[in-house]
Amino acid sequence: MNATVADPLVAKYDVAGPRYTSYPTVPYWEAAPNAAQWIERIGGALGQASEHGAAIYLHIPFCRALCTFCGCNTRITRSHGFVGPYIQSLLAELDLYRGQLGLPLLEFGELHFGGGTPTFLTPGELESLLAGLFQRLKARADAVASIEVDPRVTTGEQLEVLARHGFRRISLGVQDFDPRVQAIVNRVQSEQQVREVTQAARALGYDSVNFDLIYGLPLQTLAGVDATMDAVCRMRPDRIALYGYAHVPWIKPGQRRFTESDLPEGERKRALYELGRERLEREGYREIGLDHFALETDSLWRALRGGTLHRNFMGYTTAFTRPMIGLGVSSIGDAGDAFAQNEKDLQRYQERVALGELPIQRGHLLDAEDQVLRRHILRLMTRLRTDWDQPTDYTEHISTALERLAEPAADGLVELGAASCRVTEKGRAYLRNICMAFDARLARRMPDKALFSRTV
Ligand SMILES: C[S@@+](CC[C@H](N)C(=O)[O-])C[C@H]1O[C@@H](n2cnc3c(N)ncnc32)[C@H](O)[C@@H]1O
Ligand code: SF4
Repeated sequence: MNATVADPLVAKYDVAGPRYTSYPTVPYWEAAPNAAQWIERIGGALGQASEHGAAIYLHIPFCRALCTFCGCNTRITRSHGFVGPYIQSLLAELDLYRGQLGLPLLEFGELHFGGGTPTFLTPGELESLLAGLFQRLKARADAVASIEVDPRVTTGEQLEVLARHGFRRISLGVQDFDPRVQAIVNRVQSEQQVREVTQAARALGYDSVNFDLIYGLPLQTLAGVDATMDAVCRMRPDRIALYGYAHVPWIKPGQRRFTESDLPEGERKRALYELGRERLEREGYREIGLDHFALETDSLWRALRGGTLHRNFMGYTTAFTRPMIGLGVSSIGDAGDAFAQNEKDLQRYQERVALGELPIQRGHLLDAEDQVLRRHILRLMTRLRTDWDQPTDYTEHISTALERLAEPAADGLVELGAASCRVTEKGRAYLRNICMAFDARLARRMPDKALFSRTV
């Protein structure tokens, strides 16, 4: 498709909507599990997870400076005074899990360091965190360890420490190479910085390098995205996340530091995505779920083909791993039938851990309907298709979803069978809208204030 041709469906489906890293989505969570309930749910899920082990997500919130587009939970600082005590809190929180679950060593199939910027930590700080973790964790033979890094603060020495502890997947925040965009979002970084980290990772044996890019940033143009794609294709990462910029200034006031009239919206924003997608597909990348691309040699593409692609709070992952235990400030855990999020305030998180409490701030216990709808939304987000021919698919919960899908079906976004819903190629760009048809909680209580970013 020509990137500049207007799509009449864009205006119709450009509404506020969730990104479905969970169902129910966070604003619709009700009663949080208490610590005993949470441990019981995590323990139950671990019992069922003997063939794949747990996923562990560890949040490191520190960043040196604020990128004004940022939607993550960060703590902006140049001081390393916070780091030592924070590492101690992370290890103490893990000890609470081990003690309460009665497991001297917690076995994992997936370990992910996210942020913030995990490579804010010096090589010595990373070493002490990893040494502490591996006294308490046991990696399965097929375990995967991954990290998100900011190329501006990442050195070969840090990557070497991580590689020595088994890290083989790395994700670099690239965002956009256009100097005007970089300046307005306070994120100036060169192609050379990104290349050096990419090359260092590859030389150390990292077998999957991801670049995070964003479309819809202020001042972004088609020419700028085209030039960014030139640079990206020169470095040929294995995977690319091409995220739609999520504008949520009521949650992230930093996003008020640029002028909203500088944001490409609606058809202008969609054209940026279409251009990026065309460029990547021409280079041999395959589109995966929502906003993701991978070379056919990458494990993410193989997972999609093999039916094991999964989506959780970390985004798309190659294996169905549950439960997910979230460690650190603001981290979210997933027991399958319950969610729990840690305190979002750093001091409060550390105080509660020091008191020997699991620092749960909010969460949700899924009821039977939640679990059915969650399964359908997850299948749509990963396989672009869901079926309800099994008794456990509970057709009664999706009859209203089918009514809501009549219009998208008429618009050619989905094909509805007797017991199936398949997203068409045209519908892929509206995946969030299609999942919204299955979101019974959203339909029952439409938000009366801004909660979500826009779907286009
Ligand atoms: C924790 S950061 C990645 C690591 C590191 N802090 C960095 O920025 O390089 C996670 C990613 O979320 C994406 N992101 C952050 N804020 C966003 C927003 N408002 N909309 C869309 N994507 C966003 C960015 O692509 C960013 O690379
Ligand atoms: S985009 Fe990354 S480096 Fe920038 S503020 Fe957010 S988490 Fe920190």
